Amino acid sequence: MRASPILKLFVALLLTGINSRKSDPDASYTSLSSLDVDGRFTFDDVSEAAMDFGHRYHHLPSAVLHPGSVTDVAETVRHVFQLGPGSRLTVAARGHGHSLQGQAQAAGGIVVRMESLRRAQEMRVHAGDEPYVDAPAGALWIDVLKETLRHGLSPKSWTDYLHLTIGGTLSNAGISGQAFRHGPQISNVRRVEVVTGKGEVFNCSPTHNADLFHGVLGGLGQFGIITRATIALEPAPKMVKWIRVLYSDFTIFTEDQEMLISSKKTFDYIEGFVIKNKTGLLNIWRSSFKPQDPVQASRFNSEGRTLYCLEMTKNFDPNDPDMAMQEVKELLSQLRYIPSTLFQSEVSYIEFLERVHVSEVKLRSKGLWEVPHPWLNLLVPRTGIHAFANEVFGKILKDSSNGPILLYPLNKSKWDNRTSAVIPDEEIFYLVAFLSSAPTSSGQDILTQALMQNEKILQFCKKANIQIKQYLPYINTQEEWQTHYGQRWDTFVQRKLSYDPLAILAPGQRIFQKAVASS
Ligand SMILES: Cc1cc2nc3c(=O)[nH]c(=O)nc-3n(C[C@H](O)[C@H](O)[C@H](O)COP(=O)(O)OP(=O)(O)OC[C@H]3O[C@@H](n4cnc5c(N)ncnc54)[C@H](O)[C@@H]3O)c2cc1C
Ligand SMILES: *[C@@H]1O[C@H](CO)[C@@H](O)[C@H](O)[C@H]1NC(C)=O
Ligand SMILES: *[C@@H]1O[C@H](CO)[C@@H](O)[C@H](O)[C@H]1NC(C)=O
Ligand SMILES: *[C@@H]1O[C@H](CO)[C@@H](O)[C@H](O)[C@H]1NC(C)=O
Repeated sequence: MRASPILKLFVALLLTGINSRKSDPDASYTSLSSLDVDGRFTFDDVSEAAMDFGHRYHHLPSAVLHPGSVTDVAETVRHVFQLGPGSRLTVAARGHGHSLQGQAQAAGGIVVRMESLRRAQEMRVHAGDEPYVDAPAGALWIDVLKETLRHGLSPKSWTDYLHLTIGGTLSNAGISGQAFRHGPQISNVRRVEVVTGKGEVFNCSPTHNADLFHGVLGGLGQFGIITRATIALEPAPKMVKWIRVLYSDFTIFTEDQEMLISSKKTFDYIEGFVIKNKTGLLNIWRSSFKPQDPVQASRFNSEGRTLYCLEMTKNFDPNDPDMAMQEVKELLSQLRYIPSTLFQSEVSYIEFLERVHVSEVKLRSKGLWEVPHPWLNLLVPRTGIHAFANEVFGKILKDSSNGPILLYPLNKSKWDNRTSAVIPDEEIFYLVAFLSSAPTSSGQDILTQALMQNEKILQFCKKANIQIKQYLPYINTQEEWQTHYGQRWDTFVQRKLSYDPLAILAPGQRIFQKAVASS
């Protein structure tokens, strides 16, 4: 599909001067107090809506809506839509505020606190042949898990950390160690309820309002605010066997990972980490593993080599563990890890899924959670992963003690190309995530160094022509957004024109700029 001239004009209008226009005084937000909402607006105490997990960008909104109903969300957006291009007001849905660079913020606009809705609307679990849960989009995944577990059920595809909202992860993709089999979270959604940028409410599924359904999945909040979602469930596993092994050879490590994700009989969760030195190694064992493991790990001499940790789990029923344990044994016998480095543990399903929260609690107690997080998340095509590893882990990366580095393969066939999510154009690609923390107590230089390292990595990929895609993208220019979306840019723009023609929604993604009339 070619962009029509009108479309091009529209895009140019929206994209010009992303940073050139500072928020002029715009009193149109005062008209919000005339709206009769079930919840409430706050105008003074809005600083929390200018914060996020990245702790680097802080844009104050004019107002925060604490919606009491979906109607509140729809009426607020419709009100802003009807103000037309004479108003600069924008609207950002805020999930749990775990964005990295202000993506859920709205400078001078309205932030909708989606978590307020989770009390107003309950979760409904439907058992049966194809079980599902229908949940408010502001619900945290941990609450979804707790509720579905009461019915012996559970979602299939996760993120590593569950204190994120349904709407927030579905607007990105939701990727973890189950995605090789079940696809990302956006591949496990049956229906969504959406408020568009015109303030209309639609129920969407793959057969009903399908374009909007696919558009909002991975849509970075650009086409609508998801207010409810129906998520596919499966019988909940009871226990998991949790295993970590080490490699010193990147090629063997990735061959084993790829073998595992391609096998019919395999683990239930497959991830991996890159460990540049001892601190990183110990960090990986610090939580949840047997007390003797860190001792054993500290005795392990890496001789300064970069190490690769393969992490996997197998679900099992404690009343009938034999078959699962036999399968684990067979699978391990096919792997080529360093023999002395097999670490195993058995935990409940919820304990496994809450593993990052355990670290959060520890980090919080040391004041190390609410600190800048200069994260970089990449999807790297398989054909480029060795060149990537040579340069990035061999040369650019000095140290992995600032935070974990994840690396694991995914299969494109589990992704629906009608959604808005962007992935490399190859059958197998790797998620590579540099999850750095930069506590200010350590001085600004960790932050500066991490940002420089991220830039070097991106520059290298460009120079070496490795066609990576950013996950949770932070992109500066129109050209780069177009490159990011590639052939799908026209569809993306077309959807924007259909569902949010004034570019009111999720301005913090900085893809489109609201076109404001000058008089
Ligand atoms: C510790 C940690 C671990 C993580 N692990 C993973 C992981 O393993 N896998 C993974 O895929 N991601 C992971 N993430 C990233 C996570 O998916 C993003 O932070 C995401 O933004 C979800 O956070 P949130 O619910 O707070 O949404 P927010 O950050 O509040 O919102 C994200 C974007 O979506 C928009 N938005 C929010 N709610 C809605 C809605 N209901 N409808 C439409 N748009 C909406 C916002 O405007 C914003 O643009 C992790 C993040 C953290 C902090
Ligand atoms: C990817 O998944 C498809 C569909 O399940 C499968 O046919 C293919 O073999 C997988 N590719 C690899 C390399 O595992
Ligand atoms: C490991 O980390 C320390 C402290 O961050 C650093 O000084 C050292 O160079 C690193 N060692 C290796 C082998 O990279
Ligand atoms: C999506 O994939 C299908 C089947 O592989 C293909 O026919 C179609 O052209 C693809 N669509 C887009 C938009 O890439």
